[in-house]
Amino acid sequence: MAEIVCIIGNKGGTGKTTLSHMLCQGMGLLGQRSVCVLTDTHREPLDPEGRRYLVADARTREALGKVVDKIRSLPGWLGVIDGGGNRTEMDRKLYGLASLVLLPFRDSHEDIRTVIRDLEMFPRAWAIPAQWPTNLWQQEAAQKTIREHLGKHADRILPPVSALSASKLLLQRNIPAKLPTPLGNACRALAYQILEMLEIDCEPPMVEVEDEAAAVSAGEAAMPAVDRCDPASTTDPVRH
Ligand SMILES: Nc1ncnc2c1ncn2[C@@H]1O[C@H](COP(=O)(O)OP(=O)(O)OP(=O)(O)O)[C@@H](O)[C@H]1O
Ligand SMILES: [Mg+2]
Repeated sequence: MAEIVCIIGNKGGTGKTTLSHMLCQGMGLLGQRSVCVLTDTHREPLDPEGRRYLVADARTREALGKVVDKIRSLPGWLGVIDGGGNRTEMDRKLYGLASLVLLPFRDSHEDIRTVIRDLEMFPRAWAIPAQWPTNLWQQEAAQKTIREHLGKHADRILPPVSALSASKLLLQRNIPAKLPTPLGNACRALAYQILEMLEIDCEPPMVEVEDEAAAVSAGEAAMPAVDRCDPASTTDPVRH
């Protein structure tokens, strides 16, 4: 049966939609078929052209039921359902149908307060630090905040996904024909981590290297975003 991953959480703007698309793009790059499912009635569907995954519009209750049934009938596929902020009832529903639930949160006290509430409401869900600082000093401060405020839930925090400006390209209605290498690497690293959690076999991803000049002009390092911080030193995430 297909697996369903939901990316939810009460706080708006944490990166649910970006992570959903990064995860699906990464799945495509790793040879895994996936569908990114839109449920947020305040957003428009994106053009599937050029993406490594399908997109589905499930903004009504009926459409969501049909899309989920369809995905479940496709063995080997992965459905990634993108929630919408401030919709506790919908989050509960999505939590109930997912095999893996991710709760992105940013380095802010408000996000952390909200994710603690969500972690308590959804005992199978994992918190995932998103838009995480890449600057060393900011990273240390962010990790200290996590230790202080999320210590009780340390075993449910995944490695962070770094801030990566190129990630917004995936949320364009039409994506460019060529996506930046760091984005591909970040998508692959995220997808690999999720496949491991779902116990789906997959070869570890190759990290593509771009030429240094391109990396410098893009203002981003060539390392995969999820690996760039050293999560083990702070949050000691448990791999499943
Ligand atoms: N890893 C990232 N690096 C840099 N910017 C990011 C990253 N993830 C998200 N963003 C930016 O943060 C903003 C919010 O992201 P996104 O729309 O994915 O959040 P959301 O949780 O889906 O929001 P909503 O609650 O409104 O649905 C966007 O401008 C997006 O480009
Ligand atoms: Mg969104």
